[in-house]
Amino acid sequence: MNNLREIMALATRPGVLSFAIGLPAAELFPREELAGVAARVLRTEPSALQYGLPLQPLKAQIVEMMAWRGVRCTEEQIFLTSGSQQGMDLLSRLLLPQGGQVLFDEAVYDGIRLATRLQQPEILTVASDPATGMDVDAVEALLAGGARPAFLYAIPDGHNPLGVSLSREKRHRLAALARRYRMPILEDDAYGFLYYGEEPAPPLRALEEEWVYYLGSFSKILAPGLRVGWVVVPPPVAARLSPLKHGADIDTPSLSHWVVSAYLESGSLPAHLTTLREEYRRRRDTMLAALREHFPSGVRWSHPGSGMFVWAELPPGLDAVDLLRAAVETERVAFSPGAIFYGGAPQGARYMRLNFTSLPPERIEEGLRRLGRAIRALQEKPGAELASPPRLS
Ligand SMILES: Cc1ncc(COP(=O)(O)O)c(C=O)c1O
Repeated sequence: MNNLREIMALATRPGVLSFAIGLPAAELFPREELAGVAARVLRTEPSALQYGLPLQPLKAQIVEMMAWRGVRCTEEQIFLTSGSQQGMDLLSRLLLPQGGQVLFDEAVYDGIRLATRLQQPEILTVASDPATGMDVDAVEALLAGGARPAFLYAIPDGHNPLGVSLSREKRHRLAALARRYRMPILEDDAYGFLYYGEEPAPPLRALEEEWVYYLGSFSKILAPGLRVGWVVVPPPVAARLSPLKHGADIDTPSLSHWVVSAYLESGSLPAHLTTLREEYRRRRDTMLAALREHFPSGVRWSHPGSGMFVWAELPPGLDAVDLLRAAVETERVAFSPGAIFYGGAPQGARYMRLNFTSLPPERIEEGLRRLGRAIRALQEKPGAELASPPRLS
């Protein structure tokens, strides 16, 4: 079975305990506060329900948030989007010619493939080490060998799906390559505010202003249903994005922009981020402990310091899609098989991505107990090869 739609239908079947999707914890949405600010905005700001220009005060507030990430920028460099997914879509339309080249990790957030598919690009890939992330030597070799991608897409913090963050050294090297080859890097920082130990190294945009186009989002730190994101780009790029966004959705959603701005104005975001980090750290630790307890010894997994995902590798001889099918049928538990992030390529066959933020700790424990049973059952099936040590450490 290599049909991605079929895989996702299995992984999201109702009644199944699912680690498949990158959902934030719904019970942590600050609903009371959002209800309060939304009611006030609706009562006092008719323009929140009107067509309108992008909300300037929100841009000023985002400039301040970017400073928390160590990025210096101006309001002229902020372009508001309907989620960072729209940022990817608009930047792809702007930068990528039909049939042009793009450069991705070989295991990458599938949304970037969707955002670029209309241009039918030639997708160049570099290996993604589960422990250290993007292979920057390979990026350099491709560029030195004459590759000229319209952009490189990178997720330096809390990578989806690997859960890894790039070292300071790799960030400096990527920023330098972008400068040397005049190659835009789309830096997706969807998870940059969600770290569970020391504050991470600054994003690429803090190292390179001209060639790094930063994508930010309120989806993982406030609520994805608001559909508010932003990009940080040089002002001439922002000017060229503007008609594209106008053509897509007439610069809306105004109400969401007003609500997010009023929420930020209340000063509640820093405390909310602290709550998210504490709770998600607890859930990550629960998942890592449950993996140790319930998974057979031949499986390896990553230890993410940020983001929402653990990336696990099954022993040779086991296929993650076969496992998903069996786990849904017999144990009513699901995950995302690696094939999704490899665009269906066979290298993804033994990987699984496990989300640790959407379920409370006791459900994580229960789900992994079931999944461990499903792996053992598959291993014991006649025909399964004996496990030999996998690569991931
Ligand atoms: C790496 C990454 N980028 C972007 C997105 C989309 O975010 P948004 O809701 O801001 O469009 C996601 C969603 O899961 C993601 O994982």
